[in-house]
Amino acid sequence: MSEIRALTYSDLPRVVAIERRTFPTPWSLSMFVLELSKPDCVCLGSVRPGPPAQRDEIDGYLICARYDEAYHLMNIAVDPDQRRHGIGRALIDAMLAQTGQDANITLEVRVSNAPAIALYEAYGFRSVGMRPRYYADTGEDALIMWRAIGTPWEAA
Ligand SMILES: CC(C)(COP(=O)(O)OP(=O)(O)OC[C@H]1O[C@@H](n2cnc3c(N)ncnc32)[C@H](O)[C@@H]1OP(=O)(O)O)[C@@H](O)C(=O)NCCC(=O)NCCS
Repeated sequence: MSEIRALTYSDLPRVVAIERRTFPTPWSLSMFVLELSKPDCVCLGSVRPGPPAQRDEIDGYLICARYDEAYHLMNIAVDPDQRRHGIGRALIDAMLAQTGQDANITLEVRVSNAPAIALYEAYGFRSVGMRPRYYADTGEDALIMWRAIGTPWEAA
C-alpha cells in the first residue's frame, strides 16, 4: 500500500519522468514548480513504504489548484508500471481530506480517457459539458466534470 504525502521540489525529477511516460503533451518542470510554489495548492505524491531510499520514490502524484469558489484538479498520474493498485484512489482520498467534503471541484479529461473518467465517476464527479478540440496535440474534445457540494465523500 502506498503512502500519500505533500510533494516537494526534490520529488519533481521523478514526477516529470512519470509525466513524460504518461502524456503526449507533458507538463514541464517549471509548470510543476509554479504549482508547488502556490500556498493553497494541494500537491500530493504517493510513495512506497519501506526503507528510506524507497520512501522517496514517487509512484504517483496529484496537483489540485484552489480558486475563489472551486478547486481545479489539474493533474493526476500514476507510474504506468504501478496502475490498478489503488494509488489513484489513495491520491483522490487524500485530496478530498484536504479540500473538505463540501468542496466544489472541477476538471477536464480527454473524452477517450476511460480509466480516468471511471475513477472520477467513482468519486461523484459528473460530466457537465464539453470543450471542443481542447487538446491542441490531437484536437480531442475535453469532458468538463464537476464534483459539487453534497456529493458523498466516499468512493462507491
Ligand atoms: C487515471 C489513473 C490516475 C488511475 O490511477 P490508478 O492508480 O491506476 O487507479 P486505481 O487503481 O486507484 O483505480 C481506481 C478506479 O479507477 C478506475 N480505473 C482505473 N484504471 C482503469 C482502467 N484501466 N479501466 C477502467 N477503469 C479504471 C476504476 O474505477 C478503479 O477502481 P477499481 O480498481 O475498483 O475498478 C491512471 O490510470 C493514470 O495515471 N492514467 C494516466 C494519466 C491520466 O490519464 N490522468 C488523468 C488526466 S485527466
